[in-house]
Amino acid sequence: PDVHTAGCVLGTITSSRSALCLLVQLVRFLFADADLTLLWAAAFGSKPKDKLCGKVVWITGASSGIGEELAYQLASLGAFLILSARREGELERVKRSCLERSRLQEKDILVLPLDLMERGSHEAIAKTAIRHFDHIDILVNNGGRSQRSLCLDTGMEVYEALMDLNFLGTISLTKCVLPHMVQRGVGMVVTVSSVMGFAGAPLATGYSASKHALQGFFNCLRTELTDHPGITISTVCPGPVVSQIVGNAFTEDLGKPNSNVGDQEYKMSTSRCVALMLVGMANHLKEMWISQQPFLLFCYLWQYAPTWAWALTDWLGRKRVQNFRAGLDADSSYFTKPKTK
Ligand SMILES: NC(=O)c1ccc[n+]([C@@H]2O[C@H](COP(=O)([O-])OP(=O)(O)OC[C@H]3O[C@@H](n4cnc5c(N)ncnc54)[C@H](OP(=O)(O)O)[C@@H]3O)[C@@H](O)[C@H]2O)c1
Repeated sequence: PDVHTAGCVLGTITSSRSALCLLVQLVRFLFADADLTLLWAAAFGSKPKDKLCGKVVWITGASSGIGEELAYQLASLGAFLILSARREGELERVKRSCLERSRLQEKDILVLPLDLMERGSHEAIAKTAIRHFDHIDILVNNGGRSQRSLCLDTGMEVYEALMDLNFLGTISLTKCVLPHMVQRGVGMVVTVSSVMGFAGAPLATGYSASKHALQGFFNCLRTELTDHPGITISTVCPGPVVSQIVGNAFTEDLGKPNSNVGDQEYKMSTSRCVALMLVGMANHLKEMWISQQPFLLFCYLWQYAPTWAWALTDWLGRKRVQNFRAGLDADSSYFTKPKTK
């Protein structure tokens, strides 16, 4: 009987320990703002300062939003920068701000205007970038635009533009830089995809398709580079982050701007998103999900329980489409009361 009692007590302790462990993990998940591998790397992995200081990093889409913040945080870590986007004046502004926040000097930051849609220019621009610092350690494919329109209303030219910019522009630039990295045997290509690169939601059929295409491209490319262990292919999948993305989104017609900039209140701060990206880069993570709740839960459902994800997306998506058609702010309509445009 004594052995039996001891066994029962041990069993009770073990199961209450497991229950406590599960509870702790659940609470941690409720407050998580990135996938658990990335958060583990943030707590116990290599520090961005140790791994990224002195690296040459080429950032596309550096004139605003996530790319601009990347430039600031990398500059303060001591990385050398090549800043690209279409608006040269904005890139110069970002460069000045980087110099003010860091010990970098004028020659340590190259402003290199680039239109991702003009693929014919990419080879020459990449050569200029490589020549300036003698090499490139990291290419961050960040430039891109989103979409706010329903498929039924959207012209084919909008789909062409989204694929041209987000997908073909990105792989064109990657193909210009990759041979250089292969030759050196070292390098990193970091591509900013999106949660929409593996999930789906209304108003973004073309945007999501272009990001799915990127994920497919880079997942395959990674497998082709297994003989080059010094090269890391990394994709970043942010959820909603504060930036100019909604204001710059394509609508149903190519020339029509998106007048509704949406609610930014519920979004992750740009600085937190970038800080997590840098942790992922420092630790050579292949994929990063960076998102606050409940969007992070949504990511896990899409990955591990798609039937539940589809049911949830159907329910929320219907509301989102109804709000968009009614002229309400579609961006805040998932989890908060929609505001009028
Ligand atoms: N913010 C979010 O919620 C979110 C979520 C998931 C993924 N993302 C992704 O994050 C990346 C950065 O977006 P963001 O949120 O920072 O938006 P953003 O503030 O609108 O920045 C977009 C950047 O892309 C550049 N760009 C646009 N068209 C270009 C072109 N034809 N050629 C070269 N550069 C071009 C813009 O510069 P110019 O206008 O000067 O060319 C700008 O620097 C995008 O790939 C986006 O899909 C954002």
